[in-house]
Amino acid sequence: RKEIKKLTTGSSNLDNLLGGGLETQSITEFFGEFGSGKTQIMHQLAVNATMPVEKNGFDSDVLIIDTENTFRPERIIQMARAKDLDPDQTLERIHVARAYNSHHQILLAEKAADMAREYRIRLLIVDSLTSHFRSEYVGRGSLAERQQLLNRHMHDLLKFGTIYNAVIAVTNQVSANPAVFFGDPMNPIGGNIVGHTATFRIYLRKAKAGKRIARLIDSPYLPEGETVITITESGITD
Ligand code: GTP
Ligand code: MG
Repeated sequence: RKEIKKLTTGSSNLDNLLGGGLETQSITEFFGEFGSGKTQIMHQLAVNATMPVEKNGFDSDVLIIDTENTFRPERIIQMARAKDLDPDQTLERIHVARAYNSHHQILLAEKAADMAREYRIRLLIVDSLTSHFRSEYVGRGSLAERQQLLNRHMHDLLKFGTIYNAVIAVTNQVSANPAVFFGDPMNPIGGNIVGHTATFRIYLRKAKAGKRIARLIDSPYLPEGETVITITESGITD
């Protein structure tokens, strides 16, 4: 078994909440409503993974499975500059695969191992984990099948993380309206169907002026708690 490593989020507040950062060999799920900062955090994690080890990075390539077409190279360039990294070199190390539907998404996760033979990938991102599944499997009759496919997909992701000692980061949009949230089977805290298996779950809430509240839920060994992060032009900070 390889030694578990931790990837910085860019915010020392959030890193501390996570006991040092996102762990390799685990899945970390960021969930929250639209605009809560999930995609921004994914961009920051991608940049951070490419950073040299002396600067807390993994000196690695990154694979992003992008299901909503929300990857923005310009944002990577801004964040790379803020860390004194060469923006072009940083972008070259971030490989983006568009997933056109849930089936394609599952396939891309299976193919990630092929990519890992060519590139040293220590961060695999799925942004969003759930959007295709939500739009394709609607109605009560399809819930069981959806959950089964999603569980298998997450198992594939976790396997990748274990084999390559990689961080797996995924996003899941949920409603901030409690009535909607608690009726949502894909809400990671006690949905109708057994919640899908992420080892670490971080709930993001909007606050004033670029601030976001991040809450750690249900961690296997870390205390629950919350902290504040900020989204700025330079990226994610305290
Ligand atoms: P969904 O994918 O719709 O569920 O939302 P999300 O959680 O992925 O939200 P996302 O990460 O896209 O957050 C968008 C928000 O980040 C914007 O509304 C801005 O508040 C903030 N943001 C994005 N880019 C910048 C930037 O360059 N500067 C600053 N200050 N804030 C930014
Ligand atoms: Mg997003």
